[in-house]
Amino acid sequence: MNDSYCWGIFREVTHSPGRESDDAEILRLTGKQLEAKGFDVVLKSPDEVNGVDGVRPRFVFLMCERVPVLERLRALEASGVPHVNSPLAVLNTYRDRMIAAFDEANVPFIPSRLVPTATPDGAGPSPVWVKRADVHNTQEGDVVFAPTPDAVVAALQALAERSIPRAVIQPHVEGDLVKFYGIGAGGGHHGEPPWFRCFYHKEQQLAGHPFDPRRLARLVRGAAAALGLEIYGGDAIVPRSGVPVLLDLNAWPSFALFRDEASVRIASYLTLRFTRGRR
Ligand SMILES: Nc1ncnc2c1ncn2[C@@H]1O[C@H](COP(=O)(O)OP(=O)(O)OP(=O)(O)O)[C@@H](O)[C@H]1O
Ligand SMILES: [Mg+2]
Repeated sequence: MNDSYCWGIFREVTHSPGRESDDAEILRLTGKQLEAKGFDVVLKSPDEVNGVDGVRPRFVFLMCERVPVLERLRALEASGVPHVNSPLAVLNTYRDRMIAAFDEANVPFIPSRLVPTATPDGAGPSPVWVKRADVHNTQEGDVVFAPTPDAVVAALQALAERSIPRAVIQPHVEGDLVKFYGIGAGGGHHGEPPWFRCFYHKEQQLAGHPFDPRRLARLVRGAAAALGLEIYGGDAIVPRSGVPVLLDLNAWPSFALFRDEASVRIASYLTLRFTRGRR
């Protein structure tokens, strides 16, 4: 095995609606940073991942999300090649698994009700959000604001017609939408302080409810740890109370706005993570 050979895997284009190039760019920049540290980086599309055939990489960093490629990577990981994020952690971001994992780990999350789409039922309070229960937003109809019971039924029916069997229903939370990015697990692996940035989503009328970003960072790190994520991002709402409500957690986001800084940090993190005691 070539000791410096590693793979970076792009996200599937269908999983990056509206941010295909942002998603590709952070992977490319991270690859460049790793090359500057002496690694021999090959970037691949998910379709180019062929499991354990050929030359084995020393490690893999990945943004892909679909089950078949994650299964192939899990086999590679099981054969001793470390991955960030681990394919299982990425699988854990599928909405239904994520909700179960947060429940199990006592991570505070937006109240979420898992329902079948085949028997749509609009009963219950509105407005709500109706979201497909498996993958995150890939196209229109996957994540829908439903202001009335009729709109809930329509959103569920539309998912059923696309053969998506289950959905998640969440109450609509009023407040300021905050996006965040994080690097590093738990309390900061290998002596690196965990990196965290949050910012207001651009397209909104801000109410400006005060909140403590450190509190959000702690909430997010607990959530990332529950899924096993090391490179992550997501969405939270800060309501009038100032207590952030976690809406969503994703594996390896685009880091847009912070790309240069983040790629340097990710590359340092990966270097420490993958070369402990070896370089
Ligand atoms: N319960 C909620 N209350 C208020 N706003 C919400 C709620 N759920 C979702 N939203 C809005 O919809 C957006 C997308 O929701 P979410 O992040 O859960 O879906 P996603 O599949 O990850 O989509 P994306 O890839 O766009 O983030 C959020 O950023 C937020 O603006
Ligand atoms: Mg989201």
